Amino acid sequence: MSEAIKVLLNRRSTRVFKDEQIKDEELETILEAGKFAPSAINQQSWHFTVIQNKEVIDLLAETFREVLLNSNQEAMVKRAQSANFKPYYNAPTLIIVSGDKNAVAPKADCGAATENLLIAAEAIGIGSCWLGSSDYIFNSPKAAELKEKLGIPETHEPLYSAIFGYKANDNAKAAPRKENTVNYIR
Ligand SMILES: Cc1cc2nc3c(=O)[nH]c(=O)nc-3n(C[C@H](O)[C@H](O)[C@H](O)COP(=O)(O)O)c2cc1C
Repeated sequence: MSEAIKVLLNRRSTRVFKDEQIKDEELETILEAGKFAPSAINQQSWHFTVIQNKEVIDLLAETFREVLLNSNQEAMVKRAQSANFKPYYNAPTLIIVSGDKNAVAPKADCGAATENLLIAAEAIGIGSCWLGSSDYIFNSPKAAELKEKLGIPETHEPLYSAIFGYKANDNAKAAPRKENTVNYIR
């Protein structure tokens, strides 16, 4: 089996990280992979915000907690009230992927770029996890203030985020794949 396929199949979400920060050259390799994702009419509509500052990650976690507490969704409120509420899992690096609002397909472009970040991380032995918190945080009343603080271009909308760091555990076993998800027309 090719190395690329092995990496794709072996990647699992990491939620327990070592404290140590990843090396700059590893970060650049991951970002380079993101920038080489496919994009509609090659617009490369992504922008990557790399956050390696614990205070800033904690601020985002706190904002996320407030948004969930005000969400009127019982399960989300419960999650935010938990003493174990650590949406960024103490990961040392967070990358937010933002898409150009005027591009043809920013969600597809940035989704492809985000997946490339995760696959590249796995290929060089770094753990990662895609996080859905951006949806909540950047649709909240704090969005504009946070975007400015994080230097996200006015033209771009934060879409996806993922955390990175050295794995504290081996990859978990993958859940079984759903059946009947393919049909063939030949
Ligand atoms: C759009 C999206 C949002 C996700 N949000 C979260 C999240 O907020 N927290 C989390 O721990 N994992 C999150 N995940 C990771 C999924 O839970 C994980 O990919 C899935 O359970 C399959 O496990 P695997 O990545 O180990 O194969 C997210 C994944 C995607 C694609």
